[in-house]
Amino acid sequence: MIKKAIILAGGLGTRMSPLTKAVNKQLLPLYDKPLLFYPLSVLMLAGIKKILIIVNKGQLSQFKKILPEKNNLGISIEYKEQLSPRGLPEAFIIGEKFIGKDNVSLILGDNFFYGQSLTKILKNCTKLITGSKILIHPVKNPQLYGVATLNNKKKVVKLAEKPKRSKSSYAVTGMYFFDNEVVKFSKKLKPSKRGELEIIDLLNIYKNKNKLKAEFIGRGGTWLDTGNVSDFYDAANFISTIENRQGLKIACLEEISLNNGWIGKSQIYNAINFYGKCDYSKYLKSLIS
Ligand code: DAU
Repeated sequence: MIKKAIILAGGLGTRMSPLTKAVNKQLLPLYDKPLLFYPLSVLMLAGIKKILIIVNKGQLSQFKKILPEKNNLGISIEYKEQLSPRGLPEAFIIGEKFIGKDNVSLILGDNFFYGQSLTKILKNCTKLITGSKILIHPVKNPQLYGVATLNNKKKVVKLAEKPKRSKSSYAVTGMYFFDNEVVKFSKKLKPSKRGELEIIDLLNIYKNKNKLKAEFIGRGGTWLDTGNVSDFYDAANFISTIENRQGLKIACLEEISLNNGWIGKSQIYNAINFYGKCDYSKYLKSLIS
């Protein structure tokens, strides 16, 4: 079972231009709430309550203003800093103490997931006992992502990071599930040509041991990577369209917590006080009236 997860919310805005990377994009509002709320909401939908958030050096205080360790969500939040963007698997080295003897999930702080059967898929993934699991999703431009090639039995036979050409259109999304060996394997990785520890190298260790499984987010689901400015605003438009049509919010953390039975009305009132007068607070009020 997976009960712990890491959100990697550092990286000094690796895909942002110098003009925009002065601010960590996780602190920017993606439509009506901080970007950080979206990956966190996914973990909460998966039923994960123990969360480590890894942020850029020097940005702890800004993150804690948005999401304090002592929160109204009924979950446990810890923070650690990453000194420089040395690659995604560094999360497991920084998080070694947090992980302890347990299995763990990793979600990238700029990934957005949405869709009808998402919670079911996530809960299925958290049942992992040994090995690793990835979530894959078809995209038009696989060369921008990690890419999984499958055989006719839907088994992953090849993984490549941003291949120039690929016959497969299955991107490896930024949410991963691992057994406890991930810490040991991450420590063994060597930096790639671009000087980073690569998640694909880590996944290849599991694949070569026949311990990697892929779960599909089908065409009824949505996966967006908000890594560059244009994708960021596309995601904001998507959220605005859905929320304004339905009158329901995507990634309202307190709503998920309430539905999970982790908090009650009093925490919602505390949250309303914490956020102050805003549309998000109004929505929280509507949940309990
Ligand atoms: O979004 C899914 C993709 O994420 C996968 O398909 C790729 O296999 C995976 O390598 C990754 O690719 P990206 O090009 O999107 O990775 P990027 O370097 O942009 O980092 C993703 C997020 O993680 C970003 O918000 C910054 C953060 N990050 C990145 C690195 C390298 C860190 O916090 N620390 C780091 O050291």
